[in-house]
Amino acid sequence: MTILITGGGGFLGGWVVRRLFAQGIDLRVFDRASDRRLVREIAGSNADNIDWRTGDVSNPDHVMKSAEGCSFIIHLAGLLTPDCANNPILGAQVNLLGTLNVFEAAKSQNMKGVAYASSGGIFGSSDGATPYPMTQYGAFKLACEGSARAYWTDAGMPSIGFRPTIIYGPGRETGLTAGPTLACREAVAGRAYTIGYSGKQDLIYVDDAAAAFVAAALNPFDGAHAFSLIGATEDVPDIIAAIKLHIPEAEIDFSGDEVPMAAEITPTPFEHILGPQPHIPLTTGIAQTIAHYKNLS
Ligand SMILES: NC(=O)c1ccc[n+]([C@@H]2O[C@H](COP(=O)([O-])OP(=O)(O)OC[C@H]3O[C@@H](n4cnc5c(N)ncnc54)[C@H](O)[C@@H]3O)[C@@H](O)[C@H]2O)c1
Repeated sequence: MTILITGGGGFLGGWVVRRLFAQGIDLRVFDRASDRRLVREIAGSNADNIDWRTGDVSNPDHVMKSAEGCSFIIHLAGLLTPDCANNPILGAQVNLLGTLNVFEAAKSQNMKGVAYASSGGIFGSSDGATPYPMTQYGAFKLACEGSARAYWTDAGMPSIGFRPTIIYGPGRETGLTAGPTLACREAVAGRAYTIGYSGKQDLIYVDDAAAAFVAAALNPFDGAHAFSLIGATEDVPDIIAAIKLHIPEAEIDFSGDEVPMAAEITPTPFEHILGPQPHIPLTTGIAQTIAHYKNLS
């Protein structure tokens, strides 16, 4: 059983690779980038031995070829909120058509299923239960959920879309909500840092998010599901306090608007399908993130 991880060269991808390595499961990475730096930092020197295919997820041939011989796809490749806002056409090509390419490849290889990254961005800012995207990024993610349902009814392809809001932890260095992680990195380096958003948001530690995707790949299921991937609602000052527990002299503040996603996400449990899931609290996740950057320095 070989699992294909699209976007496996990125932040969440690195943590999925790390979990699959730990369980001795064959994997292949598909990413437009060939740089393994992040995956090496997260998953160790085994990253150099990965079957790594470079290509563009918006190109059907690239995806089809990379999927040959695989039995499941963990689909993480995509552009984040700022890139979709700056170039909505490219955002749709990568995030929406790219996802359709992934489902087509899964279908052609008779795969067991697809687990794909949706997002808390499918919700508007006031309601974490009713889809109402307020960004191009959120709109594309919601469209992917609809297409995933159609692939189940039309072609019997099982899928789970997970909707994290903010994933934080070692390696989260880009995107609108990288602030909590970058604050840890900068505090370790002794530099001042301003987290670029304000207000409360749901934060999940990256290894908890990776665990959900890996559980989907390893536990057979039917249907097309979309589950919110919840950690805990955290206010920015509480994140700063958690960092200062470990680095009291850290100079961290925050400024900027609230993120256009709901702060309180209504739980949609999935343990009945995928079994018990880990849950690392903020203080532990921040401690692990700080330890990671200390090790690198
Ligand atoms: N990080 C978060 O807080 C968060 C929250 C909700 C959902 N998500 C989703 O989770 C997934 C992974 O996010 P991440 O934080 O690891 O992002 P990331 O930017 O670190 O990783 C995305 C990866 O996709 C690759 N990629 C981008 N465009 C590509 C293309 N055209 N073809 C092939 N590969 C391409 C990038 O090179 C990168 O390695 C994304 O789909 C994202 O939308 C992330």
